[in-house]
Formats: sequence, structure tokens, C-alpha cells
Amino acid sequence: MSDIETMKSEALAAIAAAHEPAALEALRVGLLGKQGSVSALLKTLGAMSPEERQAKGPAIQGLREAVAEALAARKQAFDAAELAERLATERVDLTLPAPDAPRGSVHPVSQVMDELAEIFADLGFAVATGPEIEDDWYNFTALNMPESHPARAMHDTFYFPDQAPKGGKMLLRTHTSPVQVRTMLAEGAPLRVIAPGRVYRSDSDATHTPMFHQIEGLVIDRDIHLGHLKWTLETFLKAFFEREDIVLRLRPSYFPFTEPSVEVDVGFAIEKTADGRSRRVLGGSGDAPGHGWMELLGSGMVNRRVIEMSGLDPDEWQGFAFGLGVDRLAMLKYGMDDLRAFFDGDARWLAHYGFSPFDQPTLSSGVGARA
Ligand code: DAH
Repeated sequence: MSDIETMKSEALAAIAAAHEPAALEALRVGLLGKQGSVSALLKTLGAMSPEERQAKGPAIQGLREAVAEALAARKQAFDAAELAERLATERVDLTLPAPDAPRGSVHPVSQVMDELAEIFADLGFAVATGPEIEDDWYNFTALNMPESHPARAMHDTFYFPDQAPKGGKMLLRTHTSPVQVRTMLAEGAPLRVIAPGRVYRSDSDATHTPMFHQIEGLVIDRDIHLGHLKWTLETFLKAFFEREDIVLRLRPSYFPFTEPSVEVDVGFAIEKTADGRSRRVLGGSGDAPGHGWMELLGSGMVNRRVIEMSGLDPDEWQGFAFGLGVDRLAMLKYGMDDLRAFFDGDARWLAHYGFSPFDQPTLSSGVGARA
């Protein structure tokens, strides 16, 4: 074997044996670098006679090419291995860890509001809304409570320093009744709406919180009378409490925005629980032995002055309205006894009294949430 052939097989063997890029690079420098052995051979070509060059040239060039090719192939193998390793180790996991069980629950107030919307939707009522920061005019004046009206004093109102566009001061709405006026002004008649939402009064003890929830109902049409009101309330309360034996008692009352006004009581029975305490269970006449009446809501025929101030002709349009506390309804249906816990945001209370987000109230499966 010629010297060149020997050199070639040694070089190729060394390249094949190189186990890391640094060793390969050292080989490249030793062979093809400026001082490299193959480079040195190439330099000898210049000093040869043309004949000699013709004889040895192809072998030397062949050596250079073979070495260069082997180096390139080995380098590519190292690069591919390095890339494969990086792809394997630098993987980014884009999936989110799934909790063992779904967390969070639907607050009883939201649950009850959903139930109410479902029941009233079935009776043809749409949901109306209004602002919580309200104009004095909508909250009081348009509801037949002018500036000096004594009923205003009963509302313990939170006022803002700002002047309201329609006179008086801006305030946090004390009830959902202003939505009646806003909806009549915006949509005219006939109308069938409920308006659930937050209301505010400067009042705080075991049964009062400065913010609580009400739902307002309003029907405006021709020839509406108290019978429609009573049927609507009975139908709604039977569906809500999921009992056919709900009995209502209508008592004459007074609200500035209704005439006549009625307060509605619902009959309940007093039952003893296993631990010797007594609890009220809705159902039956409050006049029956062992029963009583509980005040539940305010209502009446919409006062003609309110209809007028809401832009409608009271000789053509009449209607009824009612308003009641959503928190109270939730407590009665689901058995909580402290109103303040509703607004504490205590995760333990929510885990106990909250509802599964998967239990949507529907009339067909019963609006009540499953325990
Ligand atoms: N707005 C009244 C309140 O907060 C409740 C009420 C009573 C609403 C009678 C009505 C109604 O719509 O007709 O005390």
C-alpha cells in the first residue's frame, strides 16, 4: 500500500473512532488545518515536476476529498444526535394539570336567580336590568315619592355627593323598582318583565346587610287586575318551592307606587326536627292548627301616576308589580339561617351551600337543585 493509501485508511479510521465533536475538530485541524498533514501533502504538489504532479496529484486530491467527506459526514452525525437529544429534553408541556375534582360552586343567590329566570321565562317574562348607581328621579320621584315623601326616609339611602341629571342626588338604588320605570320608558307597553339585582341600604344586623338582592316583577297590558297578580304569584311560588300546597294570603297594605297595594303572606307549618328544634316548612293555610303566616313580598296594581311618569297613558294601560328579597327566598328554600354568611366569601360555606355548575335549573327536570 502506498504512503497515501496508508494515510487515508488511518485518517478515516480515526475519524470513525472520534466519539465527540471536540475530538473530531482536533482531527480536522490535524489533517486539513494550515499545519495539517493532508495540507502539507497538498503543498508538495507545487514543487513537483508536471509529470510527477500528474502521477501523484489525483491520489493526493483523492485523499483530501475522502478526508473532507468523512469529516463532514461525522460532523453531521454529531449534529443530528445533539438535535435529537435537545428535542427529547427541551420539550414544553402545554397541557394544564387537571384538578382531581371540579372546584368552585354556584352561589345560592345566583342559583335562585337562575331558577327565578327559568320559571318566569316559562310564563312569558323577559329579564330587564337597570343601573345600581341610580338617579334619585327613577329610584323615588317617578315611583310617586316626591322630595318630601315620608317613604323616602324609610329607605336608609346611600347618597353620592353628585347632582343627579334629573334633580336631587345620585344614589345606590334602594330597590329594584326603578327598573319598572326605565323599562316602561324604554320599551313602552305591553310588557312582562322581571328585574333581579343588587340593592343597597344603610342597614346592618343579623337579618340586614348593606347590599342584598331583590327581584321585581312587572306586567303592563290592557285589562290587568289583581286576579292576574294572585295567579302569577301562586304559580311562581308553587314552581319555586316545588310544592302544590302553597297557600297565599293577600293583605291590604301601602306602597307609594301601587294602588291598591297588597302584602302577600305564605302559610307554613311548624315542624320539630330530630334534634328537638323547630323549623318552618312552607305549605298549607297559615290558619290551620300548628301553622302560621309569613310575610313574603310586596305588590299591587301599578299606581297610575307611575304609569304616567313612565310615559304611558294610564287610561289605556294597567298592570301589576311585585318585589321580593332573593336572599330570603334562598334561605327559605335551602335552609340557611344567617344572611351575613351569604356575603362572607367563606370557601367552606360555599362548598356546603353552593351548587354544581352542571345543575342548570330547567322546568322539565325541576327547577330545584339536587342535593
Ligand atoms: N320596592 C319595594 C321595597 O323594596 C318592594 C315592592 C313592593 C316592589 C310593592 C313592588 C311592589 O313592585 O309593587 O320594599
